[in-house]
Order: sequence, then C-alpha cells, then structure tokens
Amino acid sequence: MAAASSAGRSSPAVNGKAYTIVDHTYDVVVVGAGGAGLRATLGAAEAGLRTACITKVFPTRSHTVAAQGGVAASLGNMGPDNWRWHMYDTVKGADWLGDQDAIEYLCRNAPDAVYELEHYGVPFSRTEDGRIYQRPFGGMTTEFGEGPPAQRTCAAADRTGHAMLHTLYGQSLRHAAEFYIEYFALDLIMDQDGACRGVIAMCLDDGTIHRFRAQRTVLATGGYGRAYFSCTSAHTCTGDGNAMVLRAGLPLQDMEFVQFHPTGIYGAGVLITEGARGEGGYLTNSQGERFMERYAPHAKDLASRDVVSRSMTIEIREGRGVGAEKDHIYLHLDHLDPKILHERLPGITENAQVFAGVDLRRQPIPVIPTVHYNMGGIPTNYHGEVLTLKNGDPDTIVPGLMAIGEAACVSVHGANRLGSNSLIDLVVFGRAAGLRCSEKIERGARQADLPKDGVDFALNRLDRFRHANGKTPTSALRARMQRVMQSNCAVFRDGPVLKEGVKKISDIWSDSADIRVTDRSLVWNSDLIETLEYDNLISQAAVTVVGAEARKESRGAHAREDFPKRDDQNWMKHTLAFADDTKKTVRLDARPVHTNTLTNEIKYIEPKARVY
Ligand code: SIN
Repeated sequence: MAAASSAGRSSPAVNGKAYTIVDHTYDVVVVGAGGAGLRATLGAAEAGLRTACITKVFPTRSHTVAAQGGVAASLGNMGPDNWRWHMYDTVKGADWLGDQDAIEYLCRNAPDAVYELEHYGVPFSRTEDGRIYQRPFGGMTTEFGEGPPAQRTCAAADRTGHAMLHTLYGQSLRHAAEFYIEYFALDLIMDQDGACRGVIAMCLDDGTIHRFRAQRTVLATGGYGRAYFSCTSAHTCTGDGNAMVLRAGLPLQDMEFVQFHPTGIYGAGVLITEGARGEGGYLTNSQGERFMERYAPHAKDLASRDVVSRSMTIEIREGRGVGAEKDHIYLHLDHLDPKILHERLPGITENAQVFAGVDLRRQPIPVIPTVHYNMGGIPTNYHGEVLTLKNGDPDTIVPGLMAIGEAACVSVHGANRLGSNSLIDLVVFGRAAGLRCSEKIERGARQADLPKDGVDFALNRLDRFRHANGKTPTSALRARMQRVMQSNCAVFRDGPVLKEGVKKISDIWSDSADIRVTDRSLVWNSDLIETLEYDNLISQAAVTVVGAEARKESRGAHAREDFPKRDDQNWMKHTLAFADDTKKTVRLDARPVHTNTLTNEIKYIEPKARVY
C-alpha cells in the first residue's frame, strides 16, 4: 500500500537496464515503523510537518510487537519511586559506559512519555484503584540500589509492545502521516558536504525505485539480531539502517555489546519475558537448585540480564544443565496462581505451549540465553541527531540524519541494557526526534536539488545483487555467518576464539563476491531482498567481532575470560567502527563517554563495582 504522492517519474538505465524512479519530497522521512519510528512519525506529523514513514513490513508487524514485559518509568504506582533511582539503576546496568546526560534525559522524561501513551489509548493493565500496573524487572531498584526492588515496569499484560504499536499506528494515521508499506530502504542519499538529503527505497510489490527527499531522514530500523543463529529477534531484524550508515562512511558505536536474554525458549529462541521472573518465576539447574541465590544474593533471579545469562552459562558448563544434553535451564512458573498467569502472562502461557509443548501451570519451561538486543548502533545525541568523527570531534552532527530506537546508540544502555528500558527508549527518543524536527525545520521549506548521482550508488548495488551469478547461495553464506557469530562472539568471549571469529567473518565477507541470486525479477523477489539483508548483516557482524576482539576488558555484556575485570582507566570509552565494504575491512576509533549530567538536579554517578 503506497500513500498518494505528488511524485515525478523517470526511467534511467543502470548497467543497460531500466529502473522506474518515483520522486517524493517530504519534510521528514522516517525509515521503520516499530515503536520508535511510529512515535517519531506521530510527533513530526502532529507538529504539522509533512511526514512519511517507510517500512518493509506492515507497521503493526514490526518487531516491537514481540516486546512483552513492559516499559520502565518511575510512576511510583506500586510503591515509592523516583527518576533519580531509575537513572542510578540504568547507569549501573550499563556498567558505566552510558552517557549520563542522555540517561538523565531518558529517566526524567519517562513518566510523561508513558502518561502520553496512556492518553493515546495504550490499554495498560490496571491496579485495583485503576492506575497503571507496574511489575519488578531485573536491575530495577529503589534508594540508589540500597532499597528493595522497584516495581517500575508498566505493563499491558505481557503484550506491551503489541499494544503500543497498534496505538501509535492509529495515532499516526489520525495526524495524516503517510505510510509507504512494504518498501525496502536501500541507501541514504548523501551530498558532497556530508549531509543526508533523503533515502532510496524499493517498492516490494512492483520493483519501482522511490527517491525520498527530506529535510530530516530518521532511521528507526531496529537491531541486527539475525547476525546470530539463535535470537529472539524477528527475521526482519537485519539492521538495515546501521548498514546504510556504514556504507555512507559513517561509524557505528559500541557494536561489541550484544545482549543475551536469559530466557529464550530452548531450541526455538522465542522470548519468555523477564516479567515472568518479575511475577515470581525462578530458574533451577539439574539439581533443582535456585542457583541465582549464589551469583546474585540480593537480586537473585532479578539481577541484570548479563549477570543471569552468565550464571546460567556457568551452570551448563559445569555440568548442571537440564535435559538429555544437560544444555539448558528450567524456568518455573508452576507455583504461581493460575489467575496471575491468565491475567498477566497470557502470551507466554501460549508461547510455552506452542514452542516448547509445556503447560506452564504444571511444568517448567526449558530456557537458554538467547541473543536479544544490540546495545550498539548509530551514535546520536539525546535529540536523535546522528554523530560522527570529523576533524577530531566525535560529537560532530551529521546534517539531515537522525536515528532512534534499537538502531541508535544514544547511549543510554552502555554495555548492558536493563529489561523494559528498551520500550521507554523507543518512546522517549522517538518523541525527542519529533520535537527536534519541529524545532529545527519549517513545514514545506524549499529543499535544494538532490545530487545528480544521488541514486547511482543504491541502484548499482541493487543491480549487482539482482544479477549476481556466483556459485554460493545467500542462505549458505548467511548460515556460516550466523554460526560463527554464535560460537565466536558469545556470552563468554576469549582472545583466541575472537581472533578466529574475526578471520572467519572476514573470509565470509570476502566470499560474498561469489554470491548467487536465482530470481531476477522485481516483483516480490524474496531471494533478492534476503541477499540485500544478508549484505547488511555481514558488515555489522564484522564490526561486532572486530570491536569485541579489540576491547581488552570485561564490561556489561562483553565478558572476556582473558580480561575478566572492567578497566576504566583504558576502556571507559565508546568504540567507533567504520567499515570499508570494498576492501572488506574495519577501522576502529573511540569517543569519550559523557560524564556530565543534563542538569544540576543529579550529580555524576561515580563508577563502582557492579554487584547485585
Ligand atoms: C522482556 O519482556 O523480557 C523483553 C522486554 C525487553 O527486552 O525490555
């Protein structure tokens, strides 16, 4: 379904083949219709800007739909809470790699962003007295880590992301945002001054090429979980925006930090929300022991995700895993009142039955740490403006380009994200991006002509893959990449294994020259789209494993067996990674962590040992 547009058409030839190009002009073009993309679309449209949203799947099928447990905000509906405690937990959860100005922005704006969602119509679960229901989540505490767990995660049963997507899509339509649905973004249009002037996309159902010119292009394209073999992410999570940024010669930040969610269903990878432990669920090993009591005596099963994933992995390695292969762990909910399961965890009750054949009222669920989230992404400030390293300044704004949501690295999650801080990141920074657009640009302002060759790069790449005539099918390269990432860049990492991973990923990247695409058509060509997605994934896999090999310390989700300690002296800095797609190489640089807060209402939170 395409929105009506006052577009012009042309048919230039690329390598002798004609492509129909349709031109569009908007004030704001958002790429991606998950929670962040929709919130930004809504914000820009509500501000009266001519706004388009391009999405490769129908908006309500975006991966945010799979976010279960909830959205963090210190509403204090279930007990005392405070945005400063939320900020402390987020800084600590991030293992002091987060930018504290951005974290302050996130936590102090979270309550308003959630009330706004409530007023837009998100059907939150309710307390007895009608307020938004909040549950405990890992790493969320009170009194700056000294008090009892905080009940901070606002939930719509265990379908919070689903509820948010439907509401935000409806609101965006209400404000006359235009949607280009089932359009695949190919590349950014950059001009000779390094400004982003728009984006090129392909309509999947007829192969027409669409050239979007915009004052601001907002990337909300999500994470790249599919670089791994087993992940909770949808097949669509291929980090297309991240890869476009790399191809534009811009850096990605902190890509070595990949989150493993403790409770993916064993074998299927499907998520069982952390909210399950928030409602009282617990993990056991083959001896029936609640082993988290040993690793995190205070927070136990509600320690932060990296801590729980590592503890489970140690239990399995030391022979205390469950099942015939002793290679997974049990999550128990069988002691909970069935009424709680029915009211607060209906989605996972169904998923456990469908994907593990388990009736969780009676049986434990087999679970295993599974890739879930990318802390790294496109570096931005807290307005959503993309940053790059220019003339020695790593905070140089890239004109015209913004990024939000999992695609972005603001950085509020640092080395490890706390559960339910993702959904709040989507809405707070989606909203911030909409606000920034309304502050900085004027509706209908005249836009200079696009660079004459603005479409060539994208079309040449498309055409090269469309006619790729090598011997190796895309699926074979993708499977190799996913297995290497799974085994060489995992929960625990070690120098020699990482070095081997760097070599193997580099080989696969080079072997991509031999790729074969069999379908040459332009109508619903899934062979071609999966190839473009694979090409997007492999450059991200490369910057991830190279960054992981280079970082000689353990911090958050990056646990090096050969460097088991955090090293603030040498490594309290963001990694910036640039990729050269022609030479298949990665170059690393660094960016300082922001140690300033946004206001004097809270002081810089000093680093200390991170124990739960
Ligand atoms: C969950 O419900 O555990 C996933 C939500 C999140 O990753 O924050």
